[in-house]
Amino acid sequence: MTTSVDSERTVTVTVNGVLREATVPVRRVLSDLLREDLRLTGTHVGCAHGVCGSCTVLVDGVPVRSCLVLAVQVDGAEVTTVEGLAREDDRGGQVLHPVQEAFRECHALQCGFCTPGFLVTIAAGLEARDATAEITEEEVDELVGGNLCRCTGYANIKKAVRHAAATMRDDAR
Ligand code: FES
Ligand code: FES
Repeated sequence: MTTSVDSERTVTVTVNGVLREATVPVRRVLSDLLREDLRLTGTHVGCAHGVCGSCTVLVDGVPVRSCLVLAVQVDGAEVTTVEGLAREDDRGGQVLHPVQEAFRECHALQCGFCTPGFLVTIAAGLEARDATAEITEEEVDELVGGNLCRCTGYANIKKAVRHAAATMRDDAR
């Protein structure tokens, strides 16, 4: 039996609230769909082996390593990339997500290569917890533990997590 590895499928996916469609090889990974087909280059690819976390995006609200997920697997799903973290304000402008704001405030990046993955992972983690509760050091460690950064030493990234959690706690009160 001959199997064609080059066959294509049309994938329809809602990315950052916008319905998108692309016809891709069946072996195309989600990170390539986002970067190459949809031109959303905010998602970075570091290791391409599921180790570094740079490529993390949300699929139906859950952080996934987009270098390990096939584009065809997200057909019909909702994907949020780093480009989708900012929110519209009531004057039609954009406001940064508290995690983005905290990274800026706390100098939590240097080269920035790992940053999209950290932002997406931490934003999802903080949004999933009780915002009114004080964040613990164990939670902070867990939120940053799955992503690798070669520049920062993590101290400022952890500071940014605490800062963002405090902002979200104030907003929730
Ligand atoms: S690029 Fe996907 S985990 Fe490193
Ligand atoms: S800021 Fe350079 S790899 Fe993290």
